[in-house]
Amino acid sequence: MTDNTWKFDEWIRNEFVQQNNELESLYWQQCDKANVEGIGEEIKESLVREGNIFISKLLQEGNTDEGFDADFDLLGNVGLFMAACRRHEITEPSREKTSPLHEASALSMQIGASIGVTPRFATAHLTTHNFAVNGQYKRFTDLKAEKLFVDYNTRGILAYKRAADALLKIKPLGLSHPITADLLKVAYQALSDVYHSNQILFSELEADAFFYQVRPYYKPYRVGLHVYRGANAGDFAGINVIDLLLGLCLANESSYSQLLVDKFLYMMPEDQKILRDCMRMTSFMDEFLQARDAYVKEAWYQEHLALFLDVCEMHGKTAVQHHNQLVEKYIANPANNLNDVHMDKLTASGPPLPVLLGALEKLRDKRNAAERKDILTRFSDIQQLRSSLN
Ligand code: HEM
Repeated sequence: MTDNTWKFDEWIRNEFVQQNNELESLYWQQCDKANVEGIGEEIKESLVREGNIFISKLLQEGNTDEGFDADFDLLGNVGLFMAACRRHEITEPSREKTSPLHEASALSMQIGASIGVTPRFATAHLTTHNFAVNGQYKRFTDLKAEKLFVDYNTRGILAYKRAADALLKIKPLGLSHPITADLLKVAYQALSDVYHSNQILFSELEADAFFYQVRPYYKPYRVGLHVYRGANAGDFAGINVIDLLLGLCLANESSYSQLLVDKFLYMMPEDQKILRDCMRMTSFMDEFLQARDAYVKEAWYQEHLALFLDVCEMHGKTAVQHHNQLVEKYIANPANNLNDVHMDKLTASGPPLPVLLGALEKLRDKRNAAERKDILTRFSDIQQLRSSLN
């Protein structure tokens, strides 16, 4: 780590957090908690001035090529700064045609393009690739709600990844291999871990604190000319690996492949590779359907199909939980109570809320193989497989 990189990292871990804390506390005291205009102007000025000084030195230093990990980490720090400027409306993508944070944009674009990721902070920066110093990992604020959110996002992501890893290991073994049963059980357990971790998040995270003090740091922001969508906990390959290998979602179906195409650069390069490979694989659902006639009476078919259907069911359960509990409680309900003045800002540069909710609902129903006439789900295939069980 160069001296300039180290100093910027120290600032992000300390003064940056303090300034965000102070601003959050000022916004929170208002009747209209969503308002940031005209509040804490001196703090905002010092935040942007201090951040720009560090970034300007780093930009002058040029490409020091410290390796992928250091570059990715620095991109994250610049991204946290840019996201905070967006949150405090120091920048606002619908107001501007290009980001006023010229140096931060230049550095982000240089790093993002050179390491093959989007030039903004991504979910991995705060979750799976967030190095803790003496127990403290990087965050925007010291608020309890933010820590809970990031902790449980990290737990959820890692558990989905465990499920995806287990399913991928089945591929070279084949459905009839005796160890496939063990791997299906590992996948089931990992998805149950997602479910339990999300349950704790749902019961402990306070809705208003999340909506007003955490979510705004995840808004889209502009880097150079373009607006990049906000980070979300889905920006890793595992969730789609599970969808595709189980066969609940299909890579050749345009609404689903659109989602994949759009998220590639928001993921770590190793995740991009896993997902690309997975998009070319056949699903276990199709393999079971093909095997049915020849092997329905075999013990392995009966045992492994039952385990497979359990995994599908648990995957569906976590999707229902995400949509009907997390999205509903922390996004949809508070948005209903939002002052009209802020409604534009809620959706600025992102899809309108009803469109976003509709898309998430479709994903939920695909993952549950629900019976729907308007979109493709595996409802009848799952029914057929179920009926082949003794
Ligand atoms: C307070 C908690 C949470 C809320 C309010 C929430 C909300 C959302 C929203 C609104 C989206 C749509 C993307 C966007 O904003 O542009 C999304 C996507 C996603 N979230 Fe969450 N989320 C929460 C926690 C989690 C957790 C803990 C996980 C577990 C890893 C998770 C997994 C996903 C996934 C995989 C996606 C991508 C879409 C998909 O494939 O389903 N979320 N989330």
